[in-house]
Amino acid sequence: MSSVDVIILKDIEDVAMQGARMLRHQLRKKSDSVLGLATGSTPLALYEQLIQECANGRLSFRCASTFNLDEYLGLQPGDAQSYRSYMQRYLFDKVDIDIANTYLPGCGDGEDPKDVGPRYEALIRSKGGIDFQILGIGQNGHIGFNEPTSSLSSRTRIKTLTRETVAANRRFFTDATSQPQLAITMGIATILEAARVVLLATGEEKAEAIRASVEGPVSAMWPASVLQLHPQVTFLMDEAAASSLTLRDYYHWVAEQNRRLADVRTAPG
Ligand code: F6R
Repeated sequence: MSSVDVIILKDIEDVAMQGARMLRHQLRKKSDSVLGLATGSTPLALYEQLIQECANGRLSFRCASTFNLDEYLGLQPGDAQSYRSYMQRYLFDKVDIDIANTYLPGCGDGEDPKDVGPRYEALIRSKGGIDFQILGIGQNGHIGFNEPTSSLSSRTRIKTLTRETVAANRRFFTDATSQPQLAITMGIATILEAARVVLLATGEEKAEAIRASVEGPVSAMWPASVLQLHPQVTFLMDEAAASSLTLRDYYHWVAEQNRRLADVRTAPG
């Protein structure tokens, strides 16, 4: 069954709880799920929630493997600003995942960056493809580092970040000269191949990107809009990120009907 779901919740905590619920469901259904992961500020509350649930024994990553969307080009994995370090710090070191099963599209010493994409794609394929992909969204609608006008059929490759993305991520770097302007990112076609996609968005600064991606035409100018073509995608957001949606009331109404349906299905007799 295909669906594009728009779920609007009060705030970032509720978004994190709902994201964790969906991921828990996925891991219970398939303990060796292949998860696609994102970095940035948005998933931090979700990762906190997952760490707690893992500590309480409600969730286990023991059999799972993970593929991150992107990694900076020019930073070594051990660099504090690399996405590998981010993942270790905010998730991997605090849950029961086997680190050998966690992958990022990093470029090793002496490796030709152009080889990284095809190798990463082959690795994803060898694990059977991504079952559950978590995404954030840039203010310009990027997913992964697929900046506006990225090919909608792109695969994992090197991308030049826009000046806006470099500026938005400046906060993570103490020294501007060490901030990379190139990254290796899964392509849009790679992301579309995930069996299920959950895009998280919080804060008013994402409202315009959400409006264009959920309700606008599918366009390479707003890369996340391509998710409208995905068979099973959920846009999960807080009220602030939803504030520019034209059909906001309708999405709330649909959610209410879905809750009623669930009540009917679980009612005794
Ligand atoms: C990060 C990534 C990016 C971010 C996006 C939003 O791995 O792929 O697309 O999801 O830049 O970043 P935040 O959450 O920091 O606003």
